[in-house]
Amino acid sequence: MDNPLYLKNRWYVAGLSGDVTDRPLGRRLLDEPVVLYRMADGTPVALEDRCCHRQAALSLGDIEGDNLRCGYHGLLFDGSGRCIEVPSQKAIPPGARVKSYPTQEKQGFLFVWMGDPEKAATVSPYEHSHLDRDGWTTQNAQFYAKCNYRLLIDNLLDVTHLTYAHKSTIGSAGVTDAADVKYERDGEKVAIDRWMMDIAPAPAHVQATGFNGNVDRWQRIEFTPPGFVWLKVGIAKAGTGARDGDLSGALMNRHTLHVVTPETPTTSHYFWVNMNETSVSPDQEKMIYEQSVTAFREDLVILEAQQERWTDAIPTIDLGADAGGMQARRVLDGLLEAQT
Ligand code: FES
Ligand SMILES: [Fe+2]
Repeated sequence: MDNPLYLKNRWYVAGLSGDVTDRPLGRRLLDEPVVLYRMADGTPVALEDRCCHRQAALSLGDIEGDNLRCGYHGLLFDGSGRCIEVPSQKAIPPGARVKSYPTQEKQGFLFVWMGDPEKAATVSPYEHSHLDRDGWTTQNAQFYAKCNYRLLIDNLLDVTHLTYAHKSTIGSAGVTDAADVKYERDGEKVAIDRWMMDIAPAPAHVQATGFNGNVDRWQRIEFTPPGFVWLKVGIAKAGTGARDGDLSGALMNRHTLHVVTPETPTTSHYFWVNMNETSVSPDQEKMIYEQSVTAFREDLVILEAQQERWTDAIPTIDLGADAGGMQARRVLDGLLEAQT
């Protein structure tokens, strides 16, 4: 078994499109060192970030046109990973190449295929139905979390933590004790639908909307492996029919796509795309974004301390609120088992 910790035959987000330029960028993905760059025509390239000569990091080298030169003894590699020049000799030794990974660019993300290259064409990268939608604005962000990717997915799928971990921002008691929750599994997808009717608003929502009366609040969460979580959240003035589809009383209606890509067993790359309806003013949008960042920093403190303590040797208990997270774990476990 190659690496049992990760689902290999999937497209992973290696970065936002803007991260990849004509300068080499080293990024560890699924515990493999990868170097990313663009060829002269903009085509993204992903190669093993380990020279086949003495294992130097190619990300410390230089781009020359479409090629990447190792910054140690100067071997030159083309975009397919083949060594095409050895400065100290004429002959190129057989086997002088580094691994190359298929790439695809879509919806502002650079996807890299870490599994069997033969299978890359048989699977499509995650596609988000709202990302190119008229009437919505988007904001991208990226973070780094010193925890296993599964702890981040757990965190996103059990939002009862909002009441405690985010009490000064997006949490309120009603998120935990007044939710009507439905879980649904559809193939590899897990959906969690939560409605909290007529509850007190969270502090951040009062700040962003200026409304401090009771609200109907929703959190609709969809997990797609390997690490995509789409959150549709919002609040409306209580009793205005949001649950029946009438959003005329909505005060906030936003989507966030959360993307988690494992870096190592104990660290993860974490990307967000926030989507707001354009009826949200730029000031509100800025405030909501800052509140989201503040809330995520609250999560990070918990997640990183959790990772430091985590051991599979000690059993943990499960709660009803873990149902969504446990479904997602089952999906991942089933897929991992199928790949071994
Ligand atoms: S390690 Fe790359 S050329 Fe020697
Ligand atoms: Fe959180």
